[in-house]
Amino acid sequence: MTRGLFISFEGIDGAGKSTHIARVTELFRQAGKAVVLTREPGGTPVSEKLRELVLHEPMDALTEALLMFAARREHLVQVIEPALARGDVVLCDRFTDATFAYQGGGRGFDWQVLVQLERMVQALPDGALRQPELTVWFDLDPHIAAQRLASARVPDKFESQPADFFSAVRAGYAKRQTEMPERFARIDAAQSLDAVGAEVGRVVSDWLKQLTP
Ligand code: TYD
Repeated sequence: MTRGLFISFEGIDGAGKSTHIARVTELFRQAGKAVVLTREPGGTPVSEKLRELVLHEPMDALTEALLMFAARREHLVQVIEPALARGDVVLCDRFTDATFAYQGGGRGFDWQVLVQLERMVQALPDGALRQPELTVWFDLDPHIAAQRLASARVPDKFESQPADFFSAVRAGYAKRQTEMPERFARIDAAQSLDAVGAEVGRVVSDWLKQLTP
């Protein structure tokens, strides 16, 4: 049986990851792989209800972090672990790095508490932590992201934050990359859509090549 693959996609709001996630999904499906395309917060009925709450209600920072991890736990147990056990490709629009970036970086919530919650929620039976094997980080200057978002849609609680907040979120992603460089691929999202798309394609196919058969 082929083993499952777990890839996450990250970046500040407005970095443009959605288009590229759709393309990567197509790439795998054309190669005949079963793909589970999912997102956080969300991905299960309970987690989608939690998403509604955290994206629209103001709340205490610890409450927010706990709800993000509660949604993640449900998502892991109900969707991600079964998919990986079947040998599927799991493509996740945001995962734990977003909590470190948004709650840790953006809101300034205690990084070490997040590390503890991550351990609690993502522990596997052998004690290892479930993490994406590849994280594609769309990195973009918050001012460019704000311009892109301005014309897009009605903003949610996070999208309506000022540029300073997103600078802190960006710094949170950078810190995560420093802590776990082996699974991060940083992409300069200021490039044209086509250039970013080509780079994402390259990153994913290079990564697939170096996996042991
Ligand atoms: P996003 O993934 O951008 O979805 P959409 O494209 O539908 O807006 O929105 C999710 C928001 O939730 C985004 O602003 C980041 C935030 N978020 C956190 O603050 N912490 C987390 O752990 C996750 C997964 C997301």
